[in-house]
Amino acid sequence: MNSDVGTDARKDDTGAGPDTSRYVDYLVANRDFAAPAVSAAVAAIPLPEPDRALRILDAGTGGGGALPELLAVARRSGGTVLAVDADARAIEAARDRVDGAPAPDLDLRVADLRDVAGEAATAERGFDLIWSSDVVWPATFEDPAAIVRALAGALAPGGVLALFTTNYYQSMFLPGHSRLERLVRTASELTWGLPVDGPTHYERLGAWMRGAGLADVALRVLPLAAPSSEPAARTFLEQIAWPEMRHAAASHGRAAGMDDADLARAEALLDPDSAQWVGSDPDAYVVQPTILWTGRAVTA
Ligand SMILES: C[S@@+](CC[C@H](N)C(=O)[O-])C[C@H]1O[C@@H](n2cnc3c(N)ncnc32)[C@H](O)[C@@H]1O
Repeated sequence: MNSDVGTDARKDDTGAGPDTSRYVDYLVANRDFAAPAVSAAVAAIPLPEPDRALRILDAGTGGGGALPELLAVARRSGGTVLAVDADARAIEAARDRVDGAPAPDLDLRVADLRDVAGEAATAERGFDLIWSSDVVWPATFEDPAAIVRALAGALAPGGVLALFTTNYYQSMFLPGHSRLERLVRTASELTWGLPVDGPTHYERLGAWMRGAGLADVALRVLPLAAPSSEPAARTFLEQIAWPEMRHAAASHGRAAGMDDADLARAEALLDPDSAQWVGSDPDAYVVQPTILWTGRAVTA
């Protein structure tokens, strides 16, 4: 699950599409829950020559979840951060994340990452680090491999591309109901019009990086885990994950293979007004196995 705002997103043609009406709520809730993993991910990036002033791009910054960490990395070297998003609401949320204070080393603007990458590719010097989190996937870009090639082409020699994903579709949001959760996940994938496999499948970030000519392509799993009562987890589950699953089951559950009993059980678990609501389970928890992919532009 992701956001398709401001992009060349594929549209679902089998019925109702994803519900993106709570886009900013999604950005903020996801950002706050993912914060520990994002922080660990930025710390794990093998940075190029940390003694030079680094030029950093946050491509599709959303709510600016990684901005504090990226700014800290830039400032250690006297460098700069350019954070872009195609959606002005995201840029406002990102500005809040860094307290709205103007900073000479932060350029926060509405822009298409493809234009920014294209300009950097022909500039005198590309970016030393490009961070992009939950942006490059087939619901947003028809040819995600081409976007990764464009980002790789925007790197300075020795620069690093870091693609992070919260790995929504391998997460545990309904522990104790794994069969139902797998069916609802399939329904959600149908809602987003995602390919079931093949070269544009969303789990091919590493393949796209290797195909873009990057060296030392590597992955790291940075798990998030919390009881569903933990405040950031609770907000994310209640406002984003559980409603998204409920919408997916209702709109594409049948196509995903759910029968009447499955649909009724999913509705009972995901309806806050139901006596069986998962939010009332004191032992419920959430796990997200987030992934950081990194790759380095070969030095000219
Ligand atoms: C799922 S959100 C992720 C936001 C943030 N990186 C995070 O991890 O929380 C995807 C973001 O990418 C932005 N986006 C999509 N296509 C874009 C494009 N072509 N150029 C710039 N931003 C884009 C969307 O507007 C959205 O804010």
